[in-house]
Amino acid sequence: MCGIIGYVGSKNAPAILIEGLKKLEYRGYDSAGIAVLKNNKTIITKEKGTICKLEEKLKENMSTTGIGHTRWATHGVPNKINSHPHKVENITIVHNGIIENYLELKEKLINKGYNFKSDTDSEVACALICDLFKEKNDMQKVLEEFKKITRGAYAIGVLIDGVEDKIYAIRNKSPLIIGVSEEENFIASDVPAILEYTNKYILLEDMDIAIIGKNDISIFRSNKKIKNDIKIFDKKVDKIDKNGYKHFMLKEINEQPDVIRRTIESFSKKDLPNLTKYEKIDIVACGSAYHAGLIGEHLLSKKLKAVITTHIASEYRYKDINPNFKTLVIVISQSGETADSLEVIKKANEKNIDTLGIINVYKSSIAREVKYLVYTKAGFEISVATTKAYLSQITTFALMVNSKLNKEEIVKAINKTLKLEQDCINIAKKIKNQENLFFIGRGIDHYIGLEGSLKLKEISYIHSEAYPAGELKHGTISLVSKNTPFIATITDEVISEKTISNIKEVKARDGNITLIATEDIKVNEDYYDSLIQIPKVQKDLQPLLAIIILQLISYHTARLRGCDIDKPRNLAKSVTVE
Ligand code: F6R
Repeated sequence: MCGIIGYVGSKNAPAILIEGLKKLEYRGYDSAGIAVLKNNKTIITKEKGTICKLEEKLKENMSTTGIGHTRWATHGVPNKINSHPHKVENITIVHNGIIENYLELKEKLINKGYNFKSDTDSEVACALICDLFKEKNDMQKVLEEFKKITRGAYAIGVLIDGVEDKIYAIRNKSPLIIGVSEEENFIASDVPAILEYTNKYILLEDMDIAIIGKNDISIFRSNKKIKNDIKIFDKKVDKIDKNGYKHFMLKEINEQPDVIRRTIESFSKKDLPNLTKYEKIDIVACGSAYHAGLIGEHLLSKKLKAVITTHIASEYRYKDINPNFKTLVIVISQSGETADSLEVIKKANEKNIDTLGIINVYKSSIAREVKYLVYTKAGFEISVATTKAYLSQITTFALMVNSKLNKEEIVKAINKTLKLEQDCINIAKKIKNQENLFFIGRGIDHYIGLEGSLKLKEISYIHSEAYPAGELKHGTISLVSKNTPFIATITDEVISEKTISNIKEVKARDGNITLIATEDIKVNEDYYDSLIQIPKVQKDLQPLLAIIILQLISYHTARLRGCDIDKPRNLAKSVTVE
């Protein structure tokens, strides 16, 4: 989602801003732009499309102060006018987040004589800052007032025409850090964007205001200047490289043997609270992480007495947490920046409820907020569609119920499963021209189906639905006709008979079944059209193998359809707005 970078120092700002934006590319964006201060005025260059396109448009503009932005459209289509930076008179801003009351503010500003070129809430924020600046002529006071007038989430970087060597910044619920160096300083959405220059950074808290010069940084909290708390980012960031693979997604699928090895090796029960002391465990997440949570719920429920339920973060954040039960909230997040998941943690913290984060990105916002923390060891995930991070999340839950997993056995089985790629390509060829598809399974196999269905939808744009196999006959089976495609998963032998009955119901109506089953589960060949058999491993890890098959089928289907696999349309890697 939107990314922000800013530079003030003595070097060539445009080059630094472009490099910074490239580091933020993984978040997902549809346009990009920079503003640099030159001869007391900002010069803005922005473009729809890639950062490379923006780079081509840049004129030779030596400047030592500037701000840059990658935009993921929320208000208004992705085009040059809606992209950032926005400028109103002498004020230029970049903004990540959503100003919820922007329409009401826009009306007031129009009545005061302001005109708007774009459809964005960000241009309204810019006009508001401009208007307040006319009255107060002091940016810190302006931003203090801005906080009171606006509702929503924002990280904002501001330049003022005529003020050559200062960036002003404010944040509320959207990530923003200050990079600290010798005779140069930065603002950025995350630390890796500035690591090439410095590993020292200051975390801005919600409602902080900052004034950043090349030799000085002033931070104001509740209208008072505070001491700068400089932190060190003490971790190397992986090199971003496809390593010979056509797409990051395929590379990341193939990294899964290493990921599981690292996840098992680094897991320590010491990072967890005593799970047996809770009466209620709420697992909360979004998208694929939510699907991993469902598997977590399934595994933990067998071991613990607590009532365990999995929730979608955007729903859970508006529910009341019953104070009568000793509760643990577990949040799962690859990025550690997902706005809805972060708000869940903040709400739980306010109510003194214990929180546990299962997080992939080191020192991300959620990682910093939770009481207990387990880092999944997936490494940097670039592909927007998650694969290896999801796998490490399920592995973490399996380790929470059994910390002595047989690492060598599962690594061998994953390698064996990856060798089934050609079978997956054959299935992809079969489904690539379909418009609709069903994933069916029971219990844990249904949860895998949910993830398989999401993977296929997000990268190949084929509509699919994941159904608990036993639920079909309560309505959806009416959609089955000749050759309606189904992908059925059976890894749990306890309920295999039941799923086989449901498969027969589909076959009886001429549906087309692709079956993914563990090798010891016997199914009469009359009941399926294609079969992929996965190795048998210890029960709690069996879902991992089935999901790898579904990842590969989705990947090859999208490839055969010519889709932009690593950056699917409309999606962002880091979902920092509500
Ligand atoms: C799908 C996918 C998303 C994320 C979701 C949560 O492939 O990646 O559904 O799982 O946006 O993101 P995180 O895990 O970063 O909180």
